[in-house]
Amino acid sequence: MKNVLIIGSTGQIGSELTLELRKRYNGNIVAGYIPGAEPKGELLESGPAEVVDITNEQQIAEVVSKYKIDTIYNLAALLSAVAEIKPQLAWKIGMDGLFNVLEVAREHHCAVFTPSSIGVFGNNTPKDKTPQDTIRNPRTMYGVTKVGGELLSDYYYIRFGVDTRSVRFPGLISYIAPPGGGTTDYAVDIYYEAVKGNKFVCPIAAGTFMDMMYMPDALHAAIQLMEADPTRLVHRNAFNIASMSFDPEIIFNNIKKYVPEFTMEYAVDSLRQSIAESWPNSLDDTCARIEWDWKPTYDLDTMTKDMLSKLKSRNLK
Ligand code: SER
Repeated sequence: MKNVLIIGSTGQIGSELTLELRKRYNGNIVAGYIPGAEPKGELLESGPAEVVDITNEQQIAEVVSKYKIDTIYNLAALLSAVAEIKPQLAWKIGMDGLFNVLEVAREHHCAVFTPSSIGVFGNNTPKDKTPQDTIRNPRTMYGVTKVGGELLSDYYYIRFGVDTRSVRFPGLISYIAPPGGGTTDYAVDIYYEAVKGNKFVCPIAAGTFMDMMYMPDALHAAIQLMEADPTRLVHRNAFNIASMSFDPEIIFNNIKKYVPEFTMEYAVDSLRQSIAESWPNSLDDTCARIEWDWKPTYDLDTMTKDMLSKLKSRNLK
């Protein structure tokens, strides 16, 4: 039996990961949320939910004790573009919040998964096939908190034996919960506009490559890493994982294969563009493949077919 607390359970990753964990495990899978972002529908009906504000260590500890939690998925974060607008809050959630989670995990012997990101890399990082162990010098608050988070998580593993593990997620694409304020969000929005029959106005310039991943592969990665044999893990915080890399032209042309009347124009957003340019074009995920058998299922074309059919069945307006 596993008892899991998901902090940020109603967000982009949490709303799907929580349901997936409930399918796989029969213990207490607790949906942690903050007031104003309450769980609804299946997420609310399929298991327990508790208010868990990551900035409140006491509140985390109480829920961990109440449900005898053994694993925490810490998904609270502001995405990259929002974090540039609210850097103080991004630090409070990303660093102070993580510190609270790690302290509770140390005292209550929990394993912790905290997503890292392609945002840990910066302009000095090798851009193509970015290695696992390389320069991490972001110039965004999002990236700073993610690098800090990787270091702090490794510190808690080395110093206190807390079982911390993480992956560097690329842009995540899903037909369920929309992201908000990320640099890679255009690759989600483009599908919605295609299905609604609208022209897509792209905020990222042609020729800007970033790594992306379909949500089912991302959920699988998070769960598979937490289940991995610890004796095989040379790395912990955080593993490069990858499944596809494209620029706006490539994804547009892929969608156009199935929606021939689809059109796109560019109105480049300078903040998002500068963040995108500082990130790698593609990651080398060899270490994840060797240490815990990471392997994605979807490529761009299989993702596009699935996204379009799932969104069409929702009758979007
Ligand atoms: N999807 C995130 C963002 O764009 C990157 O990890 O902010």
